[in-house]
Amino acid sequence: MDIFEIHGGNPLEGEVAVRGAKNSALPILIAALLVEEGESVVRNVPNLKDVYTCLHVLEHLGVEVDFDAGTSTARLDASRLGSCEAPYELVQQMRASFMVMGPLLGRLGKARISLPGGCAIGPRPVDLHRRAFQAMGTQVVDEGGYIVAVADPLRGANIFFDRPSHTGTENVIMGAVLAEGTTNIVNAACDPEVVDLARALNAAGARISGAGSSEVAVEGVTALKPLDHTVMPDRLEAGTFLIAGAITGGRVTVTGARPGDMGLVIAKLKEMGVDIAVKADTMTASLSGRPQTGSVVTYPYPGFPTDLQAAIMALASLADGTSVIHETVFEDRFLHVAELVRLGAEINTAGDEATVIGVERLSGASVMASDIRAGAGLVLACLAAEGESVVNRVYHIDRGHERLEERLRLLGADIIREGLDTVRESS
Ligand code: UD1
Repeated sequence: MDIFEIHGGNPLEGEVAVRGAKNSALPILIAALLVEEGESVVRNVPNLKDVYTCLHVLEHLGVEVDFDAGTSTARLDASRLGSCEAPYELVQQMRASFMVMGPLLGRLGKARISLPGGCAIGPRPVDLHRRAFQAMGTQVVDEGGYIVAVADPLRGANIFFDRPSHTGTENVIMGAVLAEGTTNIVNAACDPEVVDLARALNAAGARISGAGSSEVAVEGVTALKPLDHTVMPDRLEAGTFLIAGAITGGRVTVTGARPGDMGLVIAKLKEMGVDIAVKADTMTASLSGRPQTGSVVTYPYPGFPTDLQAAIMALASLADGTSVIHETVFEDRFLHVAELVRLGAEINTAGDEATVIGVERLSGASVMASDIRAGAGLVLACLAAEGESVVNRVYHIDRGHERLEERLRLLGADIIREGLDTVRESS
C-alpha cells in the first residue's frame, strides 16, 4: 500500500493536461461487448486501476483485449464471448463492472453478475438497473450473491427511473441498443459521459436520441459495427487541478478540457473568489488571499458533481467565513470530514449537511483516503497545509487519477509516493 508524503505550502504554477474521463472510458470499453465481429478501438483511455479492472472483467467474459498504456489505446475483439458471468472478485473491486449486464443481455440474452455489495459512500443499490431490465422482459433472480438474468429476448420498454442514475442510464442504453423495439428512458442521467457513450454507439450504427437530456430513446438494431472512439476529457480531474491552483494560492492552467461541461463548477469557484479564465479547451484558476465562502449543493448533472464535493470542501475549509455543503446524491459521503478536521479544519455535519467554518491555516497530519474523490480532496488540503502530511491508502486515488503525484510535482508541489514497506524499513 503506497502513501503520499506531502510538504504543503508551495503555490502550484503551470500547465497540466487532462486525461480521458474514467467515467466515460469504462462504459465505452464495456460497450465493445455488443460488437459481434471486428475489433473496436477506444482511444484516450486513462491508465488507471479501474480501467485494468474493467479490462479484466472483459477478458474474463472472453473478449480479446490489447491495451497500450503508452498510446492510451485499447483494442477489443468480442467476437468469441465465452462466459456471461462477472464474478465477485472483480465486481467488488469496481462496482461499475455491473454495467456488463446490459450488453450481455442484449448480445447473449443472459447474464450472471455479482451484486457489488456496500461501498464507502453509502449502500449504492442496483435496484434501478434491475427493475429496468425486468421491464424489458428479463427474468431476474438472486442466487448466492449473484443476480441471474435471462431475457428471451430483450425487448424495448418505457423505463421510468425514480432518480437519474448515471451508470443505470448507461447500462440500460447498452442493453437497449440490441433489444427488439424501442426503449424510452424517462428521468435519465444527463451527464456528458452518457452523451459520450451514445456518440460512440451511434457512430457504430446504434440509434440513440436525446442523450444529455432526461429523456433518452433507443431504437434497437440487429448488429453494430466495431466502435472507433476517442474518450472525452475528464471534467472531474479538470476540477481537481483547478482547485489545486486555487487552494495553494497559485495559478494552474488545465489544457485539453471541455469547460462547457463544467458550468456550475466554474460558477462556484468564481463565487468563492477564484479567478477563472476560460479559453477554448483551457481553463486557468488563480487565487490571491483566502477563498470566499460558498454554498454548495451536490446534484445530478448539470448540478454540482458529488465527485468534487470533497475537493470544494477542502477549499471552503480555508475560506474567510462559513460555507454550507449539502450532499444530496449519496447518503454517506462525508468520510473525509474527520480527516480534514485532523488537518485543522472546522467542520460540523448534521445529516446530509456540512457546515464548514473557514480557518486561516491548515497544518500537516496523517490522513486516510476512503474513496477516489475523498482521497483527491485530502491531497488538495495537504498541499495547502503547513508542514508535513501523509495521505494513506493511495490505492483509492490511483483508481481514478493517473500518476496524480507526478503531475502535481510538475506544477511545483512537494509530494512523493512511498511504498509503505519502504517507509517501514527506513524508520
Ligand atoms: C456514477 C459515477 C460516480 C458518481 C455518481 C454520481 C461512474 C463509473 N461512476 O456512479 O463517479 O459519483 O455517478 O454522479 O460513472 N441509486 C439507487 N439505485 C440504483 C442506482 C443508484 O438508489 O439502482 C442511487 C445511488 O445510491 C445514489 C444515486 O442513486 O444515491 C445516484 O447514483 P448513480 O448515479 O447510480 O451513481 P453511479 O452510477 O453508481
